[in-house]
Amino acid sequence: MNHIVNSPDSSTAAIESSSESETIQNNQRDEGLIDKNHSNIARLRNFVIAFDRLLNTSSEESVILEQGGHLLAELVSTDDWLPEDYAQAHPQHYQQYLLYADARERFSVVSFVWGPGQQTPIHDHAVWGLIGMLRGEERSQRFVLDQGHWHPSGNPDHLQPGDVDRLSPSEGDIHQVCNVFSDRKSISIHVYGGNIGGIKRSVFTPNGERKPFISGYSNHHIPNLWDRSGEFNQEGKPNE
Ligand code: FE2
Repeated sequence: MNHIVNSPDSSTAAIESSSESETIQNNQRDEGLIDKNHSNIARLRNFVIAFDRLLNTSSEESVILEQGGHLLAELVSTDDWLPEDYAQAHPQHYQQYLLYADARERFSVVSFVWGPGQQTPIHDHAVWGLIGMLRGEERSQRFVLDQGHWHPSGNPDHLQPGDVDRLSPSEGDIHQVCNVFSDRKSISIHVYGGNIGGIKRSVFTPNGERKPFISGYSNHHIPNLWDRSGEFNQEGKPNE
């Protein structure tokens, strides 16, 4: 089953355009034209506000995955808002940065940063999940348990910038994820139906052994989404 929702305009032209846009943004970042410390964080703020409203209107998983998937697709359609502190790879293992946690722990938003060639073990999630590709490319292979061993199920999903994948424990969410690239990092934005860093989950060895784990987070500080002062001029009027 392919759960990937492509970005709203997934035509070849759009992909080429997205690639061009990514190249331009990477060049701008390299040239220092995108201020490392002042990303367009309002995009993330607007996303969590919209997601909060969605959860206030429905607790139905299918509705959350469908409508939340569109919200996430909108967020990852532009790569100019993730602060650099939450886009840093680690040389040995992937990073999982908490960007936002709902006060009632109904959802959390995380940036996953994959160094070259890094991957997860086979794992579950225990709650629904949405994965939006922001930068680079990742591959997700689902697994099923058969005669005491985990086996790949179907073809792997490839996520490219703008794509959104869905995870539902009730449909089978056990998978292994890797960075497709061996020479650069990839970044995806994940939304989960709980405070994912504190949820009891499992990793699995190929021979079927289950090991409990609680992932935690890679960061001790979260980004400040709530400084709206930049939206107003010195007279207190909204900036155009
Ligand atoms: Fe996962």
